[in-house]
Amino acid sequence: MDFVDSKRKNNFSVRIFLAAFLVSLSIFWFKSPTYSSPNLFSRPEGGVTHVLVTGGAGYIGSHASLRLLKDSYRVTIVDNLSRGNLGAVKVLKELFPEPGRLQFIYADLGDKQAVNKIFSENAFDAVMHFAAVAYVGESTLQPLRYYHNITSNTLLVLEAMAAHKVKTLIYSSTCATYGEPEKMPITEETEQVPINPYGKAKKMAEDIILDFSKNSDMAIMILRYFNVIGSDPEGRLGEAPRPELREQGRISGACFDAARGIIPGLKVKGTDYKTTDGTCVRDYIDVTDLVDAHVKALTNAKPGKVGIYNVGTGKGRSVREFVEACKKATGVDIKVEYLDRRPGDYAEVYSDPSKIAQELNWTAKYTNLQESLGIAWKWQSSHLNGYGPQTL
Ligand SMILES: NC(=O)c1ccc[n+]([C@@H]2O[C@H](COP(=O)([O-])OP(=O)(O)OC[C@H]3O[C@@H](n4cnc5c(N)ncnc54)[C@H](O)[C@@H]3O)[C@@H](O)[C@H]2O)c1
Ligand SMILES: *[C@@H]1O[C@H](CO)[C@@H](O)[C@H](O)[C@H]1NC(C)=O
Ligand SMILES: *[C@@H]1O[C@H](CO)[C@@H](O)[C@H](O)[C@H]1NC(C)=O
Ligand SMILES: *[C@@H]1O[C@H](CO)[C@@H](O)[C@H](O)[C@H]1NC(C)=O
Repeated sequence: MDFVDSKRKNNFSVRIFLAAFLVSLSIFWFKSPTYSSPNLFSRPEGGVTHVLVTGGAGYIGSHASLRLLKDSYRVTIVDNLSRGNLGAVKVLKELFPEPGRLQFIYADLGDKQAVNKIFSENAFDAVMHFAAVAYVGESTLQPLRYYHNITSNTLLVLEAMAAHKVKTLIYSSTCATYGEPEKMPITEETEQVPINPYGKAKKMAEDIILDFSKNSDMAIMILRYFNVIGSDPEGRLGEAPRPELREQGRISGACFDAARGIIPGLKVKGTDYKTTDGTCVRDYIDVTDLVDAHVKALTNAKPGKVGIYNVGTGKGRSVREFVEACKKATGVDIKVEYLDRRPGDYAEVYSDPSKIAQELNWTAKYTNLQESLGIAWKWQSSHLNGYGPQTL
């Protein structure tokens, strides 16, 4: 019995390994001079902006890649698939099969040699750095994983960018860098006092970038996202975290899992906060709006300047509101259990998005919770196994 079990587990790793091997092989194939057309990714081309999307197999990175490709950018995705999905990359590849549009490189951003190789072999105009581990709860249990995969890897990426004179960086930061401010809404001037390793690791990465910027011509935009929900309105991409991360998960994932009957119901922790209905209040930003903010940040980035922007709707929604919207969006009468508070949660967090509205002419358009959740649910309920196994 034991033997069969461990074999099964091995089988899965073997499959991942095999997929990785095939991917590297196909990249090698594509790059090797005898078999491929001239490599369009390796030299700059007038009128074409080549963007490196780290973490592009992940939830937000894949949506950003789709938008960039649609807007005629050239895209290189680097991801080690530790959390992302090769299936998402496959979808993008099928949509944009033409040479010079999209390439996928399987690599670990913690591997300095690999990172340097990628930067020497490709002519990037800009980097959107999404790759990270991103669960608050997990960060308190495995802080080193967070400081390594967020702070240290960002340093490596920044060093490679500087060494290869890449001009523009768009950095994925988070409202978790603010901690628990007393005053709402949160502006970019609100003091950053993060309270968990995830927020601290992101804040440290921001500090490294800011110090670097003082003596550099790089154009830098730091975007601090609030709670991201939703998926591609045309249903091509979705959010598909590893099953083992469900426990860590975010509220939208939990709602969908409850609607699908994977978990018995939703546990809402805390009903006596000083908010309109006693449950916590958060600012939910739709991923389509979020990637639009990235493109606006990219097109407005100025050499030698840093722009820091909150990306949220500016409107707080209570957990109760969220759950009601989720019930309507899924058509399932999800069972909800109201429990005591969970330590470490703050009552209310929402953004003041006026800076990004004024300076980048960006405002959130997908502000109807039920609609955003409905779009995500459509993908979820038609992809019960997410993107499926990691095979080519
Ligand atoms: N989802 C949210 O609500 C939210 C909110 C604020 C900020 N963010 C930030 O947005 C970014 C993207 O988050 P997401 O929700 O898409 O997460 P995700 O886990 O879906 O995507 C992250 C991707 O990075 C890849 N990755 C991680 N470590 C890597 C490494 N060492 N080398 C190569 N690839 C690696 C993973 O395989 C995954 O594909 C993160 O930086 C996160 O901190 C997310
Ligand atoms: C991804 O990179 C990490 C190092 O950051 C490494 O430990 C892990 O094994 C890699 N995952 C895969 C699937 O290669
Ligand atoms: C980075 O994160 C990946 C994915 O969670 C993990 O496999 C790896 O062990 C982490 N790296 C380090 C050095 O902690
Ligand atoms: C701002 O964006 C809107 C669309 O959201 C557009 O109609 C308008 O022209 C833009 N204004 C400027 C100054 O670019």
